[in-house]
Amino acid sequence: MISEILDMKKRKEKIVMITCYDFPMAKVFSKSAVDILLVGDSLGMVKLGYKDTLSVTMSDMIRHTKAVKNGNIGNILLVSDMPYMSYENNPDEALENAKKLIEAGADAVKVEGGKEIIESVKAIINSKIPVVGHLGLTPQSVNKFGGYKVQCRDEESVKKLTEDSLILQDAGIFSIVLECIPEKVAKDVTEKLNIPTIGIGAGKYCDGQVLVSDDMLGMFTDFTPKFVKKYANLAQSAADAVKQYSAEVKSGEFPQEGNTYK
Ligand code: KIV
Repeated sequence: MISEILDMKKRKEKIVMITCYDFPMAKVFSKSAVDILLVGDSLGMVKLGYKDTLSVTMSDMIRHTKAVKNGNIGNILLVSDMPYMSYENNPDEALENAKKLIEAGADAVKVEGGKEIIESVKAIINSKIPVVGHLGLTPQSVNKFGGYKVQCRDEESVKKLTEDSLILQDAGIFSIVLECIPEKVAKDVTEKLNIPTIGIGAGKYCDGQVLVSDDMLGMFTDFTPKFVKKYANLAQSAADAVKQYSAEVKSGEFPQEGNTYK
């Protein structure tokens, strides 16, 4: 499965990743022509109502990874995010937590950061657990960045991102998410790397794209980043359906004969 993702870059075939958090959506998405399902820690914001991803725990990630695994009827490559403070400072702890996500059903784990987390990345990869990297706007560092801002606006940060991507590739990661960086920077990094880049707000030259499913389905409406394209408006459809149900209960139109046992 991972070799297939690597081959897609060689064939110049775009890779489609989408976030997925629960059983019913995994059943739908895994039969909808995607290449990778990501149990993103964005679940903290779009499913649990937290203000950022920092409060997401290993228990949250394990529960949602199990649910997605159960619904992954298309047997799509399943990647789970390692939550904040589960891997950064201690390679042994990083490996233990990565193992828990694999036991829950993930095929690979994703971590945010470059050089500063490389010992943890190596510990996980040395135990044969595949790893996806994540650079650019890494939401677990939102407080350091002072908000969700486009990254790599100056030469120094472009140099750091490029170096980090090469360090991660050398450590053996099989793919890297690039979030919220200028298209030109993503293009240059994509050309430098042998492993595929998967962009979110990083333009069209990445080897693949990822979107948060609740954003692109119009289910999460608190805010919509510029890079999101809404392919549906599920929040509105759900509200319309529930309002109609309510009106029909109040008017006596529901339930009807066909919904009733005799
Ligand atoms: O948690 C997440 O949804 C992610 C994507 C933004 C790539 O990491």
